[in-house]
Formats: sequence, structure tokens, C-alpha cells
Amino acid sequence: MCGIFAISGTDDQAGQKVLAGLKKLEYRGYDSWGIALKYREKNEVIIKKEVGKISNIDQEFPPAQEAFGHSRWATHGGVTKENAHPHKFGKVTLVHNGIFENYLEEKKLFTEKFLSETDSEVIAALLDKNIAEICTQKQCIFPLLAGEGEGEVDQEFAKKIIFDAIVKTVEKIEGRFAILVFVDGVDGIFAARRGSPLILGRGKNETFIASDIPAFLKYTNVVNYLDDDEMVWVHQGEAVYQNMKSREIIQKRDIEVPWKEEQAEKGDFPHFMIKEIFEQKDTIARAINHDDEELLKAAKLLENCNGAYIVACGTAHKVAMVAEYYFARISGRKVNVVPASEMPDFERFINEKTAVIAISQSGETADVMEVLERSKKKSAKILALTNVESSSMARLADVHLAINAGPEKAVASTKAATSQMALAFLLAYADAEIRGISKINVGREILRSTAGIINDNLNPRYEEHIREIARKLFPEEKLFIIGRGTLYPMALEAAIKIQEVSYIPALAFAAGELKHGPIALIENGTPCIVLGSDLETISNATELKSRGARIIGVATKNDEVFDEWIRVADCDGAQAIASVIPVQILAYHLAIFRGLDPDMPRNLAKSVTVK
Ligand code: G6P
Repeated sequence: MCGIFAISGTDDQAGQKVLAGLKKLEYRGYDSWGIALKYREKNEVIIKKEVGKISNIDQEFPPAQEAFGHSRWATHGGVTKENAHPHKFGKVTLVHNGIFENYLEEKKLFTEKFLSETDSEVIAALLDKNIAEICTQKQCIFPLLAGEGEGEVDQEFAKKIIFDAIVKTVEKIEGRFAILVFVDGVDGIFAARRGSPLILGRGKNETFIASDIPAFLKYTNVVNYLDDDEMVWVHQGEAVYQNMKSREIIQKRDIEVPWKEEQAEKGDFPHFMIKEIFEQKDTIARAINHDDEELLKAAKLLENCNGAYIVACGTAHKVAMVAEYYFARISGRKVNVVPASEMPDFERFINEKTAVIAISQSGETADVMEVLERSKKKSAKILALTNVESSSMARLADVHLAINAGPEKAVASTKAATSQMALAFLLAYADAEIRGISKINVGREILRSTAGIINDNLNPRYEEHIREIARKLFPEEKLFIIGRGTLYPMALEAAIKIQEVSYIPALAFAAGELKHGPIALIENGTPCIVLGSDLETISNATELKSRGARIIGVATKNDEVFDEWIRVADCDGAQAIASVIPVQILAYHLAIFRGLDPDMPRNLAKSVTVK
């Protein structure tokens, strides 16, 4: 949710590089974009901002060695040029990812005019005021910083003052933030975070700061992770870290991430979504590449607890629902699945004997993160399944299992979802092994064979068959999906996929529930996707058909009730994983036939770091 990216280097290409890097973060928000650069003359910051997607922009920037930018998903204030970041207030230029919840209280203390309606501009204003106040208190002899007259700035002293001012500013912020800051006359870029991600990329003579690694992967895969309540100053190859609470200087370890630039590129595919769907040929095998010891360590958290919750949002929540079936079926454990935003009422049941499992692609989703933070305070055991190993959730958890899907760029989650399911399946087997019911290897074999089947089936002919069905369906105004057992949450997931990329209202129900109300909506020709071909589901499909519905079966075997049939291989207990893939392909092609960009659906963002 909002992408931010900064470069401090030695060549004059900072503006161009920030533009290119921001394009790679656009999946985080695409309402507007903006770039601030320090024109070679140090005192001049140039800001360029526009409404709309940055991917369509191709332009030259004046020579600059330091620049930063922002790709926005609007929260406070509409989608206007004024509300686009960066914001300049006095000597401070700032971009912000997050939400300053109490900004109005602070804003009213200013008499100055604000140019935008954003919470972020208030952070810039507070910082500017605090810098001036600290300079006055310290009887600062550097008038540039105090906001009076001209003069030379002692850069070391200035850095200290700005660190002090950042600390004083963030003390006022309730909510989450990752900020990047220029201060007129002062070298370098300042950054700070609490709750929203920030990662530094360490190049030879240049340093990058970004919300996510793909922004700078072209230049370096050596990273430093900024933790909550830390700030940093960077200038060319230098970086100075400080803890905002203890005010200690921190030394960071350089970490090499295994991602390659091409993994975060579309390659020969027209969109990330279809590329990522096809990557499921090998991501599922990668997801289960954990040794028994790791899995047992994770499952032991459950063993010693007397209550377990899985919290997640969006697609990951549908994965969590599938996991609930897996635990029930495989290890005989009852887990409670709650959308993270609905957890507050249930948190009274969380204590030191509770296991809280987070499932999240990004590992940053604010609703999930907040449940984990509160649960941790109550000494609950935390297990996180995420795709981003360095994510906030991964670092907060007692045990983290990586799903190893590689960067997922399309807003609609596909490969991450199936990898999460595979790992949850294996975890249920690890739980079963501890309970003496089954063995991890039984689960691993089922998943290996599922991965092999998916590898064989995902081919252009299969895609073409589904594309033909999409051609017939794309003008429809509504669509139904049903499934039973683990295919019920997959029906819900199929509905999310279709809605979010094709904007066709898609309604999903447990197969047996349809006749308790929704069947009233079925008319002659209404398309209904039926996941599965077991006897009961077929009987539900027949009820639909006799009311005029057109049935698209997604199943291991054909049935006469199906008007169209999309074959799915028989994958034993892991059927949900195989069954969701054809619907992902269908959703993608529905979007294409409707002339939409499936990678960037309207109003959405990939990583929702605000509540
Ligand atoms: C957003 C995305 C969804 C995703 C959800 C949870 O809404 O658009 O695709 O499922 O966030 O994200 P997470 O990173 O926690 O899996």
C-alpha cells in the first residue's frame, strides 16, 4: 500500500532510476505518483507529481544524485495532484507510506496553510517545526536549519539535529509510517519506520531505500532491514542507523537475498498475473522444500497450546479456511479461522497457551500485523507463513515458515496462495506426526505428485481451452460459484479472483447452501461454476441446471450436467490447490476480454499496510 523508493548515489541519474524503481513498486498503489530530486545545486529540491499510473510515464529528469519517489494508494484526501506525494513544507520534503491516525489534532495547531488534505503533509510540517525549534533551543549557529538567512551548514551537526527532530515528530504519530525525507541544505536522505516496511539496498557507491526489494534488485541484492522504531541517514555508499527509542547507533548485517531481477520481471508474458499463474509449475514444489525438523518445530507450537487461531486477509484468508479443513482432516485439530479485521472480539481468548498463525504473502498486512502484535503482548505463540522472509510478520513470529514463491507482483494473489496451501497441508501432516496419526512424508508425497500434475497440466492448450470459455462468459453481468469441503473456500477464492480483475459480480456459496436463498437469483442462462464432481455437488449442480443455469464444471471427471468442463487432475487430499488454478486462468482471461489490466485492478493495492 503505497510504494516508496529513494536513491543516494554518485551519478546524475537519480531521477531516472527512481522513476524506473517506482514502476516496479506500482503494484503497491497506482492512484498517483511523484518524485523529488535534489538538483545538483544542493539547496534546490525539484518535485514532479501527477495523477495516474507511473507505468505510462517516460520522461527525463534534471541531473541529480539523490532522489526519492512515491506511488500512492489514496487514504486521506482524494486522488489529486495536490494530494500526491512528495509534500514540501518549509525546508522538509517528504514521502510517507502508512497512516497518521491522529493527524487532524496536530494539524489544527498550525496557522500555516496546507496545500493538501493528506495526513502526510502534517508529518512534513511537524518535522519542519521541530527542526526549527531544536535549532533555536541549541542556539544553532546554522541559520539555514533554523529557517533564517543564509549560511554554511555543518553537516554532522545537522544530521544530529534532524535525527532529534524525527524522534520528536514520530512521538506524535499514532499509526504506521515509513518516511523518506530531504532537508534543504543537508546532504543525504533520512528515513524512519514503524509498522510500514523499509529495506535498504547496499550498492557500491550508492544506497537505495525501498518499500520492497524489486525496486532496486537491478543494482544490488545486498540488503539491510530497517526495523520498527529505527531511522537511518544515507548518503552515497554510507548509512548511519539509529534506534529511535534508545537513540543507540546500530550496526546492520548485510544480507544477500536469493531473488533475481528476472523473477520480478514479466519476461515473455504480457502480464504478471499470467506469468505468476504459470510459475505454479514449480512454486508448489518449492513451498514444500522445508525439512522435517523445521516443520516439526512449527507444529510443536500448536502441540503445546490449547487453542489455535489462523488470522489472514483477502486471498490468504481463503487459504486459512482451507487450512482449517486440512487440520480437521489430517491431524484432527480444531483451529479457528478469523479474518484479521474481525479478531478484536476474540482476542479475549488469547493467552500464553494460544497459538496464533498468520498467513500472508507480504507479511506486512496491517490488520494481521496488529493482531500479532497484540497477541505477542499476551505471550501467545506466533507462527507466520509468509512469502517475504524479511517481512515484519516473519521477524515478529516465534517460528517463520517461508512459502518460497518468489516475488509476486500482480495484485491478485495466485502462486502465493497455492504455495500457502501446500505449506499449510504439510504443516497439518507435521501436526499429525506429532500426534502419532500420520507422517510428514505422506503429505509430502501427495504434494510432490500434485506439483508434478500441475507442471504437466499447465500448458498453452489448457490455457486456450479456458480462454475459450472466458470468451463466452465475459459479457455476463453476474456469475455463481459453488464448492464443498475444501472446494468451498476455493469457491470463495474464485469469486475474489473474478471480481477483482474482471469486475464481474461473482457470488460464491457452499454447494449445499445455495438452495437456502441464493438460488432465487438463478435465471435462464445464469453461469454457475461448479467446483468438484462428487455426487452431492453434482446433485446441487442439477438443482441449478433445472432452474436454467449454465454449468461450468471444474472437476476431475466430466458429467452430463456440465455445459462446459474444465478438467482438473485428481490430487488426492490436495485437490483445492489444483482446482483453483483453472479459475485463476479464467479470471485472467475474463479481464483481458473486458479490456482491463489484470495486474492493477481499480481501487486495490497489493500490500495493505493501513487499517
Ligand atoms: C490485498 C491484496 C490481496 C491479498 C490481501 C492480503 O487485499 O489485494 O491479494 O490477498 O491483501 O495480503 P497478504 O500480503 O497479507 O497476503
